[in-house]
Parts: sequence; structure tokens; C-alpha cells
Amino acid sequence: MTSKTFDVGAIRRQFPILSRPINGKTLHYLDNGASAQTPQAVIDAVVAYETTSRANVLRGVHALAEAATELYESARADVGRFLGVTSPDEVIFTGGCTAAINLVAHSYGQRLKAGDEIVVSELEHHSNIVPWYQLAQRVGAKLVGLPVTQDGRIDVGALPKTVTPRTRVIALAHVSNVTGALLDVAPVVAAAKSVGAVVLLDGAQRAPHGPIDLPALGVDFYAFAGHKAYGPNGIGALWGRRALLDDMPPFMGGGSMIGRVSLEEITWAPPPRRFEAGTPPIGPAIGLGAACRWMMALDWSAVGTHEMGLTQRMMDGLAGIKGTRLIGPAGLQGRFPVISFTLEGVHPHDTAQILDSYGVAVRAGHHCAQPLMDRLDLPGTTRASIAPYNDASDVDALLEGVGEALRRFA
Ligand code: ALA
Repeated sequence: MTSKTFDVGAIRRQFPILSRPINGKTLHYLDNGASAQTPQAVIDAVVAYETTSRANVLRGVHALAEAATELYESARADVGRFLGVTSPDEVIFTGGCTAAINLVAHSYGQRLKAGDEIVVSELEHHSNIVPWYQLAQRVGAKLVGLPVTQDGRIDVGALPKTVTPRTRVIALAHVSNVTGALLDVAPVVAAAKSVGAVVLLDGAQRAPHGPIDLPALGVDFYAFAGHKAYGPNGIGALWGRRALLDDMPPFMGGGSMIGRVSLEEITWAPPPRRFEAGTPPIGPAIGLGAACRWMMALDWSAVGTHEMGLTQRMMDGLAGIKGTRLIGPAGLQGRFPVISFTLEGVHPHDTAQILDSYGVAVRAGHHCAQPLMDRLDLPGTTRASIAPYNDASDVDALLEGVGEALRRFA
């Protein structure tokens, strides 16, 4: 699997954990959708902060505090470049993708009132349903579901009858964490614009597959997580349009997010500071900046070819094993390398356990997407999710384990 510009061995060597055996077997890590692994460059960036520049940010005047602040703000700029935006001030560090969506639901959500509508789809991760449900409960708004097609895509054809003049927010997954389907964003933005609604994309499963051109997408908010994008845990980012952020009240209160505090009146700092109350996760933010730099240094046309080649190999291999069923788009068009499947007569947890005994790590269950499981009438699926460091041996080990699970349980 070596191409002119892409050498999977060279990528693999940057990830120390991949040489760790599992159950006496080679590790075949295919649970990247839950958490990707992290390269040495990210580990080094965090260690460098901890060992040479550890101090609080945006407060101190001493040399270490200034060094820490510089690293922190330069990580923000790296995240902004990764998202294709020119103003780093539109990038807010959060505790993760869930925290980013909650921030918007609480802060932007203060504009919503009884009778307003919030559109989510049937395939959303719970993190892009629950905060909106809670908001709807708080203000008396209505949560409206955009349907999903039988092959696991958000049905953008249903936008005209789902989006109404009462729609205020449309919050959708850029890529499904279950089916890998890529959202067709343009009709969503057009539908939102026609009624003056805003669009938030949950980019958790899109960000690990290369830089994003947010200006071309035309959305209003974008959220993603660090740990799924080769960065540390406990960090994520929210991008929001400056004009919207300027008008949004803070979500959490504390130090660093204020203009001036008296007991009678408090004013807010401008974004992004307004949304980063208290001491932020400094090391993880610096790590996320390094992860964005690491991703930006890759040739994504070659990586994409590699990842989708493995996806095809896995889909072909599964199709050749009697009793398997692919859940999601059958082809490679408009999808990312997240592959869900079921085995006839085998519970997904049993499949995952057999796979584990082959050193293959996958996720099994409802994937925090219960409405999608209801829609497809499934108790759950087994999900393999591919990253640049995966190779053909990972796919082949999964196929071998699938055969064994069917022999043993079906
Ligand atoms: N959201 C993560 C997943 O889909 C945890 O596995």
C-alpha cells in the first residue's frame, strides 16, 4: 500500500501505540470513529508545553505565561487554518465536540422562543440531539426530524417539507458516525437561508479526514473533537461566524471571559475569550493545534485514495461472506471510511468480542444514534472506522474475525 506520495508504513511509524500487541496479536485499530490514535508530533507538542512553557494563559506577565499564551494562541490559528478560516478569533476552544454543540444550544439558543423549530436528522449522534431537545424543553420550541434514506443518508430532498418559517436552527452531522454518509451541505444552507435560520454542522467524523473549507460550505457553526482528529482528549473546537458570536451571550461565567466586573454590572470580553471561562485545557489545545498541523502536512488526495481503497476492500470482503449486511451507502461516492455492518444471528457485541480476540478493535452497539437504529430497525451494528495509518492487514484481520464470529454464533 505504498503510493508515490503516500507511504502507510511511514505514517504508522509516527504512532507509537500501533506497535503495542493486543491479546498476543498485532493491534488492528479500527475504532478511529470513537477515538483516533495520536502521532508522536502531537505527543511532543504537549510534552514541550508541559516541560518548557507550562503556565496559565492570558493572565500572567512573566516569561512562562507569555510563552504559554503564545503557544495557545498559535494553536488557535492552526485550528483556524485547518478549517480554512482567516480569523482565529472565530475559533473557540471547548472541552470537545459535545461541549461545542452545547455552547451554541445554550448561548445562541437564548434567542429561541416558544413555537420556534430546530431541525436535526434521524441519524444524528446523541450529542447533536440532546442539547437541542433540552433547549426545546427550556423555551417551548419544537424539535423536528429530517428523515434518513434506507441507505443511511440524511434525506436532503425532504428539506422543503421539514424547514418552515419557524425554523431557527438546522443542526446536522457533516459525516454520519454510523454510516459514513457525507451530508450534501449546499441544499441545507440554501433552505436555512430562505427562512433566516442558522446551520450548525457536527464535524466530529469529518475532521479526521483532512482540512475543511468552511467558507465554501457556507455554514454558521462548526464543531469537532480533538481526540477523533489525532489530538488529545478533553479538547474540541467550535467555529462560529464573527457576526453571530459577537451577538451571543456567554454560556459559562468565570475568569478571563469578562470586560469589567463589579457587583452591580458585568461586561463581556469579545469572542473567543467570552466563551472560554476559567483556565482552558491549555496542553490539550496546544496538542490539537499540533494535530491540525500534522493533518495539514499530509497529501489528502493520496490519503483519501488509501482510506477509500481500504473501505472498498472491506466492503467487498464483507459482501463475499454470507450472512453479512452493510448498513450505509453501498458505493464510495459521498461517503467517508466509516463502515457499519450486521451479521445474521450474531449480536454486534459478540462480533466485537470475537474481533478483539483477533486484535481487531471496533465499536459495536447503537453508536449513540438510537433514532437511527429505530429508523433502520436494528438493535445495533458493528462499526469499523479507518484512519490514514490503517492498512490492508487491518481489513483482512477484520474479515477473518467476521468469518469466525459467523461460524461460532450463527
Ligand atoms: N462519538 C463517538 C463514536 O461515534 C464516540 O464512536
